[in-house]
Amino acid sequence: MQKSNPIGVFDSGYGGLTVLKEIIQKLPRYDYIYLGDNARAPYGNRSFETVYRYTLECVKWFFSQGCPLVILACNTASAKALRTIQQNDLPKIDQEKRVLGVIRPTTEVIGTYSESKHVGILATAGTVSSGSYVLEIQKFYPDLKVYQQACPLWVPLVENNEYHNHGTDFFVKKYIQQLLEQDEAIDTILLACTHYPLLLEKIREYSPADMKILTQGDIVAESLEDYLRRHPEIEGRCSKRGSREFYTTDSTEDFDNHASIFFGQSVQSKHVNLAN
Ligand code: DGL
Repeated sequence: MQKSNPIGVFDSGYGGLTVLKEIIQKLPRYDYIYLGDNARAPYGNRSFETVYRYTLECVKWFFSQGCPLVILACNTASAKALRTIQQNDLPKIDQEKRVLGVIRPTTEVIGTYSESKHVGILATAGTVSSGSYVLEIQKFYPDLKVYQQACPLWVPLVENNEYHNHGTDFFVKKYIQQLLEQDEAIDTILLACTHYPLLLEKIREYSPADMKILTQGDIVAESLEDYLRRHPEIEGRCSKRGSREFYTTDSTEDFDNHASIFFGQSVQSKHVNLAN
């Protein structure tokens, strides 16, 4: 049987499934393999060193599964680990492999959405403290004013299935208010965490009616399509049988119970044991 070379999609937990869903919708013929490092999630409050170490382990696992290309569908991993992996590790591991993140595709287009040129970023504490969004956006849109707000409780609320419950409203309202208090001219908010689309309804409810609220899945999917078009040497290595596989470092039962909420359809995952 022909060897499978799926595109790898990674997140600390379930959030990356919101990205995978959009990628599959746009690029259905490729094979995909998803890994959620649920046993060690959330990554959002962990140190650079730890997020880098965990992410690298997962990237190596994807390579062992034959992936020519891995998407870090996690802002925290993209902010804290991607650059080091691209610059230091890939040249040593395999120069033919590619690892991409979700920050660059989003920062490339964010300026086109804002009329006031004042944008807000809602993200995990780790992504905010990395300063990655501010730095990257300045490269593409030097005139854009960027404000950040960490939302440390949102990922745990989503992961614990509390995202539609009443108690969650308090924390949704709180972080949005804290962001908008920084500058009332903000007209565009980016949900810079792949878990946050599940809170979209509540986020809209507590934002001004004309606020533009951007989620990353469709933006990343479009950017991947463009990347594959521009890199036929990578595209040619990705197998295309439409297969989807799901792995978790924690309980497969829990994963399968939660995943459909993020992915929009039921999945059957397998367990993988990573080092440590
Ligand atoms: N979904 C991840 C992100 O986009 C965050 C989850 C976590 O904190 O582990 O940043």
